[in-house]
Amino acid sequence: MNSDSNKKAHAVLRQSSLPPPQQPKTHSSVNRTDNTTDTPLSSLEKISEFWAEKAESLLDWSEKWSTTMAGDVANFDVRWFEGGRLNVAYNCLDRNLVNGRRNKAALIWQGDKDEDSRVYTYQMLFREVCRFANVLKKRGIRRGDRVVIYMPMIPEFAIAMLACARIGATHSVVFAGFSAKSLQDRIQDCEAKLLVTADNIVRTGRVLPLKDNVDKALGHCPSISGCIVVRRVGMDVGMLDGRDYWYHLEMQSADISDDCEPEVMEANDPLFILYTSGSTGSPKGVVHSTGGYLLYALYTCRKVFDLNDDDIHWCTADLGWITGHSYLLYGPLGLGATSLMFEGTPSYPGPDRYWQIVEKYRVSIIYTAPTVIRALMRYGTEPVDIHDLSSLRLLGSVGEPISPEVWHWYHGVVGRGSIPLIDTWWQTETGGIMIAPLHDETRLKPGSVVKPLPGIDAVVLNEDGEEVSQGERGRLVIRNPWPGLFIGIFMDRECHASHKLNVFKGGYDTGDGACCDEDGYFWITGRGDDVINVSGHRLGTAEIEAALGSHPAVAEAAVVGVFHPIKGQAVYAYIRLQENFSETEALFAELCNHVRLQIGPIATPDMLQCVSGLPKTRSGKLMRRVLKKIAADDFDNFGDTSALANPSIIDTLIASKKALSAE
Ligand code: PRX
Repeated sequence: MNSDSNKKAHAVLRQSSLPPPQQPKTHSSVNRTDNTTDTPLSSLEKISEFWAEKAESLLDWSEKWSTTMAGDVANFDVRWFEGGRLNVAYNCLDRNLVNGRRNKAALIWQGDKDEDSRVYTYQMLFREVCRFANVLKKRGIRRGDRVVIYMPMIPEFAIAMLACARIGATHSVVFAGFSAKSLQDRIQDCEAKLLVTADNIVRTGRVLPLKDNVDKALGHCPSISGCIVVRRVGMDVGMLDGRDYWYHLEMQSADISDDCEPEVMEANDPLFILYTSGSTGSPKGVVHSTGGYLLYALYTCRKVFDLNDDDIHWCTADLGWITGHSYLLYGPLGLGATSLMFEGTPSYPGPDRYWQIVEKYRVSIIYTAPTVIRALMRYGTEPVDIHDLSSLRLLGSVGEPISPEVWHWYHGVVGRGSIPLIDTWWQTETGGIMIAPLHDETRLKPGSVVKPLPGIDAVVLNEDGEEVSQGERGRLVIRNPWPGLFIGIFMDRECHASHKLNVFKGGYDTGDGACCDEDGYFWITGRGDDVINVSGHRLGTAEIEAALGSHPAVAEAAVVGVFHPIKGQAVYAYIRLQENFSETEALFAELCNHVRLQIGPIATPDMLQCVSGLPKTRSGKLMRRVLKKIAADDFDNFGDTSALANPSIIDTLIASKKALSAE
């Protein structure tokens, strides 16, 4: 956009920030319950119409798009709302200042300690975001620059994300549980100019270091020119002159004003990058768009949760993951709702912490992960029963399969058997929920994610690309594009992405397996690729293998997921040691620590098995299913192993596993 058209677009946006009083774009102008058809959209024209209608009703645009869906639809290389112009922060904040929500709580923050809490109205959040956006500009950040955010769950985290969106900078959030090395890799990959972080993390009453990790990482990140540090704890941390700035001092500075014009972005400009694990050794930077992503976050919040003005919506996910992006921040604020953000953990100071928070704030929707429920189930029903949970009207689950046992506990004990439990299937790449019951679905089946949302055409295909029959397992494929789909893997400033996604028989291959029952309900059967899911967090086995392989004692490593009662899956690592190393407790501890340093605590192996060799085909490909079965103590029926170059290795591995289990 040249500067003239830029100015014009600004003017339009300014105008639309002051809509005439008789026609404000209020929540009630959007149907509370979306009545659009639930039948699959039969043509590309119908798909365009469907999403155009949503984009009109859910978002404020400074300039309307020229083409709803453009590009190479067959290869999912689609540009949504081409030519359309908007700003995400404007849609999440400014428009809520003129529709009666100015003094409504936008963000309720509950700290680790119960007495630490803060409430931001839309007006207050708007001011903070504008001021921080001006700080970013002062520190040289411009439209298109990348800003990495590495923060504990404090309000400044959300403020930093929205401030980036306001000035058109692309944020890339790195979960604060990741190591210095992971942070460094991500900063280097996207060539970030600035980092926003905090001095320390507060968790379970303890102070954990964060800035120390930052300092380790930044020593190797020449692209970084500035680092803004929020003072969460106030303990001394190293601050490098000319690079590190305190957030509170920056915000108080006399030259920082409360006004910051939102940058007008094209619908397909990147909003953020989020790194996620795939089947390669290093995580990929999934890029989401401004218009399509925001629309899909809002649409799904409305459709699945029926998020409304009187709701207190609590998404328990960290903002470091896509669930936090879509359902703690962008979706709820875009709809003018109230979102609750929690800094702490589920069982501190006691196992009733979550339920105490629900009671304290009269939470109406809780959206959490099965791993949390599994952990809390261990304490029995008393911690739940002592709290008044009558404000809850909807329970949500995300991130991993929820077993019928866990489903029944969550539904029966937390929901008193009387409110819906919505199991939602989606991925970082999909931007928002794809398959889930709608909020008013009455026929729920524990363990099933029910049906694709209206507008989503999901099918289960066999290897020939045909739809499988009832009850048969296959690949979960999405046949038609939708606006929430990521726009590429970050490769350079322009987000050029040549192999952005897996297309299988004309559809987006999710990498997950599924089957459908007699009612057309979907059941997710797990990943078909080498990605494992530990406590709802996605990890690539190749990534952990690369981390282990970088230790001098390791000649070769193979990692699989194995059942774990709380985490869902745990990391099981097979290690072949270099000749001059022998297996000792100390070495195992060192290897675990090495993985923590390379990736972060979530990737730490739960089990290590030393082996003399690995089951490989003659072409050198690892036969992972053999390793999965042995890790799970399942020693029968290995299927066809004729391709193995070393078939006797199976017996050797079984013997060593049995010896390990006997220890
Ligand atoms: O395998 C599926 C699993 O989590 C993967 C996506 O992980 P991630 O990109 O980190 O996003 C997590 C939050 C959306 C999926 O490919 N998954 C997610 N939700 C479910 C699920 N598996 C079963 N049931 C679910 N509800």
